[in-house]
Amino acid sequence: MGRIVFSIIFLFLISINPLFSQNLPLVPYPRKVATSDKYFEFNKNTVIVFSKGMEKEASYLKEEFKFRFGIEIKSLEETARVKSNFIHLYTKADSVQSKYRLEVNPQYIDICGSDAAGVFYGVQTLLQLIPFDKETKIQSVEIEDYPGFSWRGMHLDCSRHFFTVNEVKRYIDYLAMYKMNVFHWHLTDDQGWRIEIKKYPLLTKISSYRKETLIGRPSAKDEYDGKPYGGFYTQEQIKDIVRYASDRHITVVPEIEMPGHSMAVLAAYPNFSCKGGKFETATSWGVFEDVLCAGNDSVFKFLEGVMDEVCDLFPGKYIHIGGDECPKDRWHNCSKCQARMKSEGLKDEHELQSYFIQRIEKYINKKGKQIIGWDEILEGGLAPNAAVMSWRGEQGGVEAAKQKHFVVMTPGHPCYLDHYQYKDVENEPLAIGGYNPLEDVYAYNPVPKELSQEDAKYIYGAQGNVWTEYIPTFKQVEYMALPRMAALAEVLWTYDPNRDYASFIQRLKIQTQILDKLGVNYCNRFKN
Ligand code: ACM
Ligand code: ZN
Repeated sequence: MGRIVFSIIFLFLISINPLFSQNLPLVPYPRKVATSDKYFEFNKNTVIVFSKGMEKEASYLKEEFKFRFGIEIKSLEETARVKSNFIHLYTKADSVQSKYRLEVNPQYIDICGSDAAGVFYGVQTLLQLIPFDKETKIQSVEIEDYPGFSWRGMHLDCSRHFFTVNEVKRYIDYLAMYKMNVFHWHLTDDQGWRIEIKKYPLLTKISSYRKETLIGRPSAKDEYDGKPYGGFYTQEQIKDIVRYASDRHITVVPEIEMPGHSMAVLAAYPNFSCKGGKFETATSWGVFEDVLCAGNDSVFKFLEGVMDEVCDLFPGKYIHIGGDECPKDRWHNCSKCQARMKSEGLKDEHELQSYFIQRIEKYINKKGKQIIGWDEILEGGLAPNAAVMSWRGEQGGVEAAKQKHFVVMTPGHPCYLDHYQYKDVENEPLAIGGYNPLEDVYAYNPVPKELSQEDAKYIYGAQGNVWTEYIPTFKQVEYMALPRMAALAEVLWTYDPNRDYASFIQRLKIQTQILDKLGVNYCNRFKN
């Protein structure tokens, strides 16, 4: 009964002033919000009551209360009815995935999700409503909310620079805070192999280290720091991170680069190159001519061995196989590669790259997984079940969607968060270049206009990429990723064509109080 009266009051508020609620400090902004001027007040006697299956969400909320307010609240599985001063977490089937309804009223807080992810997102919204410190009041609200896109991703390059398990977990925390749900973990590249593969111990012994690192950008007079650099994640650490992400409803998509960006592999296994010889894990940035030989069956055997372990470690549907920036010169001049082209009837090296990717795809598909790769995998023919990550603009994504392949949009502008966010670069940390200000990220529309409604269904969503050639510390990762990640999160979750940048900034300013309390080194220049 109380609930009905309460709902009528809410409806009344919505109908008299749709903008009434626009100043709740929520990012991403929910789809439907109504507020009243009443409050729920929590204290150490507040209890979390959860339905079966919501144990993890309850314990997450409990931990956050402890961390933020120093209060150890109890959590109870739904049995005897608690009459007031409780936070109820439960699910109710709905055709919309990850949906939630959050009601805060003076007696209790109700978070009802269409599934566990929905409950988790309701918990995130609730946490954004609670000011950090001593404040114990939460404004009465009624919120109904669900995501606009199913792939709300953030990438982190842990090859060019290595970040610790705890730092990767913090990154995952930021994704969770903004209801992102995919962590694209770039684990291998020319400058370092970062994942333990038990079958190939040289990958961690040799490929995970480089002897030094270029100082600044490549130039005519390259200078190096002379300091050995390395690191890798053990399989136990990877399982820990995957579990940590999964508890936050985030899927980890590992990226294992092939056939290019493989200098670190060649340092350990020179015979996987076309020419043989001696190789070193790269110490500078860019694209390297030496790549995995596409004519050598032992290369495929090796990659299959790697994939056996990778597929076991990552429970998600997708494995990212890279596929970008693979120069074809070595293949052109390699007798084994040319023999492969002849025996397979391939007309050029682009088709050879397509052969390479399709052969790996077949193996990964047999293990019940799908591949996703950078948009170069379109060249020479797309592998039959591959999804495409469009990074060289949107054209690759458009082409793939027209071919009925799933697409994640991550065009350099505005999704590369390693680019500068302000024009006065002398006041910014050295970056790779480019210019992707917060406004541009916020204005992004992941669905290109030229796609028909039918083809637009193949756009899974979008992703922000944080390449780390020029980002040596996690503090700097935070600076580059935030708050642009928050802008992209609102694009992908709320997906409102009438979204309003001024409102976003106003809400973000309040939201960043939480980041301040957490000690996050976000870029705060948007406040000026
Ligand atoms: C890329 O930025 N090379 C995918
Ligand atoms: Zn070759």
